[in-house]
Amino acid sequence: MLTDINPFVYSHPLAPAEIIDRDDETRELLTNAVGGHYVRLYAPRKYGKTSLLQRALADGEREEGLIPVLVDLYRVVSLADVTVRIERAYARHLKGAVRARVDQFLQRTGIGLSLGATGISARIQLDPKADPLPALHALLDLPLRLEQSGGYRALIAFDEFQDIQKVPDLDGLVRSHIQYHGDVASYVFAGSEPGLMEQLFEDRDRPLYGSAVPMRLGRLAPQDVGAYVAERFAESGRDVGEALGSLLHAADGHPQRAMLLAHRLWASVEPGGAATLENWRRAHEAALAELDAEFDAEWRHLDTSEQKTLRSVIEGGGSPYRGDVLARLALTKDMVRKALPRLAASALIERHGDRHEIVDPLFAEWIRRSADPPEMVDP
Ligand SMILES: Nc1ncnc2c1ncn2[C@@H]1O[C@H](COP(=O)(O)OP(=O)(O)OP(=O)(O)O)[C@@H](O)[C@H]1O
Ligand SMILES: [Mg+2]
Repeated sequence: MLTDINPFVYSHPLAPAEIIDRDDETRELLTNAVGGHYVRLYAPRKYGKTSLLQRALADGEREEGLIPVLVDLYRVVSLADVTVRIERAYARHLKGAVRARVDQFLQRTGIGLSLGATGISARIQLDPKADPLPALHALLDLPLRLEQSGGYRALIAFDEFQDIQKVPDLDGLVRSHIQYHGDVASYVFAGSEPGLMEQLFEDRDRPLYGSAVPMRLGRLAPQDVGAYVAERFAESGRDVGEALGSLLHAADGHPQRAMLLAHRLWASVEPGGAATLENWRRAHEAALAELDAEFDAEWRHLDTSEQKTLRSVIEGGGSPYRGDVLARLALTKDMVRKALPRLAASALIERHGDRHEIVDPLFAEWIRRSADPPEMVDP
């Protein structure tokens, strides 16, 4: 049996007991939910949205008696997709007597819904022309049934909510149901594309305009990350030693990058050993090498003024308008002004006061290096 297991997970959402901090964010989410307010939770990719939702749902169930339902809308493209995702979410979360009652209700509707193994997805596969709309209406109204079957209040989290933009008029459909659910359910809409989330919630002409309290998930505090990393090293018979400072500096509070770097560092230290700066150097290089193809694709996806603006933010130390940097990059203020909102809409940069920051510290390091490649050595 494997016993010496790397304690740093960076490739999937974490179980509630495994996450660093986020106590305040969990409380804020639940306070809103219990108070009947809907929340839109925004954070860049890999900042721990799904982990936070899982924690808030678990706490909400345990402490407030809420019925938790987490619906993953990642890359949905049709009403049928959305219908299947919501049905499966209820199938995963409902338990015991409530589940039996809800399942009975769904089966009685006669439209193919069921919490069992063969639900609406089987019906849609058998008959691709079947209209998923009646099933979707029934599912969106389930919180009313939960209330009727025992006074339960539901906490429903839609993860990757921005992806519903791919399905025409879905936001209107969702609104037409949830606007009557204030007494029976609370909703959290989580998303990672600020541009798309803004279109859904901040445009006066859109159905969900102003319907949810905004909440932003930020970086982790270095002391929280440091304590977690040191503790996990110690628990697994290693010492993070002198490498910790460099790791915290390079991760810059980015949750997934911190865990990726810690994972790599841990892997480079023998059982019983202490991490050295040489271990750190190798771990850092390994992490950047792992991400190289992804960063390269991301970079090629940008147009020239976006690429130069990213460099300008980095080389200007957070200020993209420094004259010497602009001149060196052959970039104009006007190009920067136009590129900044696009970079912010896709969460590549964030603004803090009048400073701009690259969201992903490892991407910033990759850009820095590709702008300044090592010199060729004469033979
Ligand atoms: N609070 C946290 N404590 C420790 N690690 C975290 C925390 N939040 C996120 N992470 C790290 O980030 C990774 C991604 O977390 P999660 O999947 O919850 O983020 P996400 O924002 O939902 O990502 P995506 O944009 O891919 O959906 C986790 O595997 C973990 O390594
Ligand atoms: Mg997620």
